[in-house]
Amino acid sequence: MRIDSLRLQLLRWLLLPLAGLVAVNVFTSWRQASATADLVTDRTLDASVRAIAEDVRIDRGVIDAIVPPVALEMFDTGHRDRVFYRVDTAAGRLLTGYPDLPLPEPPPKASAPVHFTGSYRGNDLRLAALSYPLVGATDGERVTVVVGVTLAGHAAMVRELWVGNFGQQLILLVAAGVLVIIGLGRGLAPLMRLREAVMEKGRDDLSPLPDHAVQSELRPLVAALNTYMGRVAGQMAAQRRFVANAAHQLRTPLALLSTQVAFARRTGEAAERAEALAGAEESTRRLARLASQLLTLSRAEPGSRRPRDEDIDLAQSARQVLEGLAHLAVERDIDLGLDVNAAAVTRGDGAMMREAVVNLVENALRYTPKGGTVTVTVDGGAGEAGSEAVLVVEDSGPGIPLEERDKVFERFYRVLGTPGEGSGIGLSIVREVVDGAGGTLVLGTAAAGGLRVEMRLPGV
Ligand SMILES: Nc1ncnc2c1ncn2[C@@H]1O[C@H](COP(=O)(O)OP(=O)(O)OP(=O)(O)O)[C@@H](O)[C@H]1O
Ligand SMILES: [Mg+2]
Repeated sequence: MRIDSLRLQLLRWLLLPLAGLVAVNVFTSWRQASATADLVTDRTLDASVRAIAEDVRIDRGVIDAIVPPVALEMFDTGHRDRVFYRVDTAAGRLLTGYPDLPLPEPPPKASAPVHFTGSYRGNDLRLAALSYPLVGATDGERVTVVVGVTLAGHAAMVRELWVGNFGQQLILLVAAGVLVIIGLGRGLAPLMRLREAVMEKGRDDLSPLPDHAVQSELRPLVAALNTYMGRVAGQMAAQRRFVANAAHQLRTPLALLSTQVAFARRTGEAAERAEALAGAEESTRRLARLASQLLTLSRAEPGSRRPRDEDIDLAQSARQVLEGLAHLAVERDIDLGLDVNAAAVTRGDGAMMREAVVNLVENALRYTPKGGTVTVTVDGGAGEAGSEAVLVVEDSGPGIPLEERDKVFERFYRVLGTPGEGSGIGLSIVREVVDGAGGTLVLGTAAAGGLRVEMRLPGV
């Protein structure tokens, strides 16, 4: 359908201007045809006037005019034109013809015929008048000959000349249209072939299309398609890796859970059974956490759902998170504190933002040895692009070595030798959330020696 409309569009763009040109041409050719007909009619009138003039004689002192038949017959072109004439002396005596036939204004002086138009007895006429001194007249008396003819022959000639020209133009226009259609068909063929090449590809075939066989105009399109397919292929590969990783992460605790349950069934001792069941409970908790981490990550990904857009008070979010994690701090004897230096408000999805802060504080609490400190600082600030909302999490733990700082944001990545449970998803969630909110994330070293994570978000 698109292709068809493109064809129509091109046709319009080519044929409309062409038709305009033809219209102009038709008009000028009409003007030309009527100029030609004028010329032909005037020449005939001239000849007629001269033929009549030649036959005006002085016979024994009396001027006499006899109109020769040929002077009138030359107008007989088969269009039933009527011819009128008059011959007068300068003194105003009518020698022959129609006395009320119009005369030229002003009366002709030159010895060449003058041409004019007029109407006579309800007919439009084209007329010629010749005034000349009569040879042999005593006092050089002048004679005026006027011949007029109706316009049927003239009109027929214009039509004939013009219609011929018009027909040629029309043929030209039609030929141009046909050529345009054929040309377009051929011109668009590569596009159709490209379309077929894309449609023919198998469901999972994301290999690049060959771009050497297409016209140079189409090459950018093919290149764009190939880039796009490359991106899709990359994303599909990432998805596959993610699913494989996630399945792997789920399999380990599931296998453990199955062993623990089997052991609990087998054992006869109540204490052993209780221990196995406690282990099973722990495995289930880990599985549930992993599942919810995965879910959060998928929600934080761009395009997964429409994110809420609300004002987020970072101090309030941090307070809620710290309350939720207080038990962990108590358990590990860690001094967990919140410093609010200034109000910091940003826009985004509040629940997601809390998930991000949870992951940061949880990491700090988990990887800081017992008896350490974890401090969350909230600050409003001014950055390059207006106001900012800043949240910093610092701990007194081991920190992350410089060379690992990029990698820890990758999914399922954990620094080698990291103690405790965990699957390496937390920081990828943080990164997705901060990216989604248009903020930046910087890892550094805290004053207390541990990790310092700084989250800068656009303020409101
Ligand atoms: N505060 C920290 N101190 C030291 N190392 C840290 C800290 N936070 C993160 N890391 C390192 O970065 C790695 C990735 O952290 P991330 O939160 O993504 O995964 P995780 O905590 O291992 O697992 P989980 O998915 O359960 O959060 C951690 O395994 C750890 O090696
Ligand atoms: Mg974590």
